[in-house]
Amino acid sequence: MVAEGADEPRREWWASEDFWRKCAIFVTGFMALVLVMLTFHTLTVIEAGSEAGRVPAYSVINHRIGYEFDEQRNFAVPVIGPPAPLFGEMLSEEEARRLVDHGKLTVQARNCMNCHTLLGNGAYYAPDLTKAWLDPGWGNESAREILMTRFLDDPIANARTFGTGRRMPDPNLTEAELRGVIAYLKWMSAIDTNGFPHGFTPLPQGPLTGGGR
Ligand code: HEC
Repeated sequence: MVAEGADEPRREWWASEDFWRKCAIFVTGFMALVLVMLTFHTLTVIEAGSEAGRVPAYSVINHRIGYEFDEQRNFAVPVIGPPAPLFGEMLSEEEARRLVDHGKLTVQARNCMNCHTLLGNGAYYAPDLTKAWLDPGWGNESAREILMTRFLDDPIANARTFGTGRRMPDPNLTEAELRGVIAYLKWMSAIDTNGFPHGFTPLPQGPLTGGGR
């Protein structure tokens, strides 16, 4: 009996099946390791308030948030300014986290993404809310809090529609939910989104070092 494969011509080492099988195992294992490392890196970068990251701590809602052109990066980035507490209340990190959390859960529970996009995710019926806090539609920084509260409290009576004719239905938010949503939107506007949305112009802003809102 002839041994299996005895007639086959001898292959070079680099052409052998065994070599390529080992390569495949090595590459799969190595890339799995890279994926795990990238996952951990991403988690640290997207964690609110982490040194390495671009997502600010929740207490950023105690501050004025500017949006300025960065020459080096060639797009506008959020700039965290002096204290300008939301609804006039300075919050601790934990209180701010709870408020922003409440807003985020409200946005999820009410499925605002059915019409809006947040950080680019969602639907395109209504404006992207990523920078809604800085939207020029609010007129100026001092009127914004009141106008936003009024709008979200009754978006039909306070519809602006921006010429689209589209109106937002009343989400029937409680006072606490409303404040949470606004806190969430303020916090989100301070996330460095690498220039997204492209070409966004914020509402008129005074010098960022000079207090005010
Ligand atoms: C059925 C679609 C729809 C749903 C659901 C919806 N919206 Fe809207 N929203 C709109 C439309 C349309 C506009 C623009 C009309 C206007 O400004 O009068 C708008 C405007 C806004 C604005 C102003 C944006 C800006 O930058 O000027 C905010 C803030 C907002 N919505 C928040 C929310 C939140 C929070 C929820 C969930 C509780 C929500 N929306 C759910 C349709 C929707």
